[in-house]
Amino acid sequence: MERKWWQDKVAYQIYPKSFYDTNGDGIGDLPGIIEKLDYLKELGVDIIWLSPCYRSPFADQGYDISDYYDIDPRFGTMEDMDRLIAEAKKRNMYILMDLVVNHCSDEHEWFKKACADPDGKYGNFFYLRDKEEGKLPTNWRSYFGGSVWEDLPGTNKQYLHVFHKKQPDLNWENPEVREEVYKNINWWLDKGLGGFRIDAIINIKKALPLHDYEPDRDDGLCYIGKMLEEATGIGEFLGEMRDRTFKPHDAFSVGEVFNVKDQDLPAFIGENGYFSTMFDFNEAIFGGSDKGWYDSKKITPDDYKRCCFEAQAKMGDFGFISNIIENHDEPRGVSRYIPEGDCCNESKKMLAALNFMLRGLPFIYQGQELGMENVPFHSIDEVDDISTLDEYKVALDAGLSPEEALAAVARHSRDNARTPMQWTDGKNAGFTTGTPWLRVNPNYTSINVEEERKDPGSVFHFYQKLIQLRKSPEYKETVVYGTLTPFLEERHNLMAYYRKGDKTLLVVGNYQKEEQEITLPAACKKVLINNYPDVDSNGNSLKLHGYQVLVLELTQNK
Ligand code: GLC
Ligand code: CA
Repeated sequence: MERKWWQDKVAYQIYPKSFYDTNGDGIGDLPGIIEKLDYLKELGVDIIWLSPCYRSPFADQGYDISDYYDIDPRFGTMEDMDRLIAEAKKRNMYILMDLVVNHCSDEHEWFKKACADPDGKYGNFFYLRDKEEGKLPTNWRSYFGGSVWEDLPGTNKQYLHVFHKKQPDLNWENPEVREEVYKNINWWLDKGLGGFRIDAIINIKKALPLHDYEPDRDDGLCYIGKMLEEATGIGEFLGEMRDRTFKPHDAFSVGEVFNVKDQDLPAFIGENGYFSTMFDFNEAIFGGSDKGWYDSKKITPDDYKRCCFEAQAKMGDFGFISNIIENHDEPRGVSRYIPEGDCCNESKKMLAALNFMLRGLPFIYQGQELGMENVPFHSIDEVDDISTLDEYKVALDAGLSPEEALAAVARHSRDNARTPMQWTDGKNAGFTTGTPWLRVNPNYTSINVEEERKDPGSVFHFYQKLIQLRKSPEYKETVVYGTLTPFLEERHNLMAYYRKGDKTLLVVGNYQKEEQEITLPAACKKVLINNYPDVDSNGNSLKLHGYQVLVLELTQNK
């Protein structure tokens, strides 16, 4: 496999609205990101993905774009953006924008023109169907609940939206739409972006002709995924996009791809794949239910291990997967993947090392490096996220009491990850001098950048060590490019694997609070990472403390 410039990097996701506010309006902004670049550099980050900061009415927090060539005034100006790209470059860092092109906003001029003249050029930018009384064009349920069809204002037609009704789907079958998308990508890449994270991309190809599927809930609708399973030919769009945009710029691209069929993986991220890489969501989607969040299953340490190894095995070494613990759509990883009641510095560090040492490109989501946790919700009124509000309703409809419904959706709410970044133990966690747009997690007094920077035993410093190991001249070859083989795979509450390159490393995590003993397959030459001050070993036998994680260099190149 040919080596690429981005493979040995470390990436970091910023949710601009919640990162750092410089003008006291309670909303994070681009000048705030510029101010914190040195912090990210200190952590060891190279690639920064910004969730959308384009002009947007914010029906879905910026994932509804009304102008792809402008910055939303909430975040600053295009000059700020140019400055951010330049300041990042000075520090050898790369900025990624979020490419949201399955849909735009209903306030985009294309959509306004489609409403004004549905039979004209812009009508064909969207999926429009004639309105029939008492019947919808198809019975698909949108990701955020309800039908995917909505009346096209001022006309006798309806338009398709697989997400919110303020996010009309773009018709990728129309070459004019694709040209607009490529033009926009190239415009940004010419500005000096490192590349893009590509939003919801699997949705761009619909199974045509559009038709109904078997309903799967009492609402008579069916999950949109049914249609996507049947859709074929997305590769033509994605290959064209790659050839016209990313490839000539040698840009980096990471796809938000769900449900890709195993046999299609090489086409997506192998040599000359559509994307440089894509996220591994195997752990994130574990336990999901057709009925809704309220019915989802909790994940155990053994499940977590299985999900990671499954994703790694599928990938083999033909491509590079991007590993995450959380993102802006997920609860905080430490709250989800660590058994209830056991969330502490040691277990957070264990999870960090187990994920970070996997083969692939690690992404850190803002605050993850501090061990930020889910927020306590006291009432549904505290929720901002449209997806959580919908799932709350689904839970109530299923007969849960309001308390039960709140508890059920709180575990999954996207707001868990969207609370302001915790910089200090001062007012509003140092995020803003004004009123934060979303409540700060009350634990900011102990979990914050300022404290953790001072404390050599903090989660922050642990992440820094993991990053330094990945970049060290001595171990880089093995950590970045080495193979991964599970070790003692069947052992309960133990996640362990080899990374083999020019060195042999063993990563071992005791995924429980009780001690656990193992026998090393070879003598330990060096302890590279340890979340405890000591290693309790006797010859090759090793007694692991609760949630202890070790990265060891072994003597034998087995
Ligand atoms: C992606 C984004 C999510 C958004 C959706 C619609 O899944 O990550 O935040 O709501 O796409 O754009
Ligand atoms: Ca601001």
